[in-house]
Amino acid sequence: MASNTKMLVFNDVAKHNKMDDCWIIISGKVYDVTPYMDDHPGGGDIMRSVTRKDATIPFSDVGHSAAALEMMNKYYIGEIDQSTIPVKRSYYEKLYNSENTPQLMLTMLLFLVPIIMLGLAVTARAYTKDKFT
Ligand code: HEM
Repeated sequence: MASNTKMLVFNDVAKHNKMDDCWIIISGKVYDVTPYMDDHPGGGDIMRSVTRKDATIPFSDVGHSAAALEMMNKYYIGEIDQSTIPVKRSYYEKLYNSENTPQLMLTMLLFLVPIIMLGLAVTARAYTKDKFT
């Protein structure tokens, strides 16, 4: 990395999330794509939609051409300090999120009710079998 490379922190990059001020993070590099918003073949909206996060995967999912990759150099403004990118919330964190608690209770009930009923049926059967045979 050249010594004059600008190191940027996630919170500062994330502030540039508008159509007329748009910075995106791709493969550890930060691009100011503001001048390209109107000309981007995929549209400006899609680039704005990947601000405030690491856009590496959405960008590579599109399968940009070599010409597109070459073009990116024009908009490069610096490197992102990877340690400042928030870690994605894990599946379990989302599941146990307080907003999802009613959903979780419902799912648990859906599993528990048949199991409890089966348990009761087996107990009742064992009890009545002893009594009437
Ligand atoms: C500096 C960043 C970017 C540059 C220079 C760029 C450039 C281009 C170019 C030249 C194309 C035409 C097809 C090709 O040559 O591959 C294209 C298409 C496209 N780009 Fe980007 N792009 C950038 C970022 C992004 C980002 C972050 C997204 C978000 C997912 C995105 C989504 C798309 C889509 C969906 C198309 C397809 C449009 C279509 O064919 O209908 N691009 N881009």
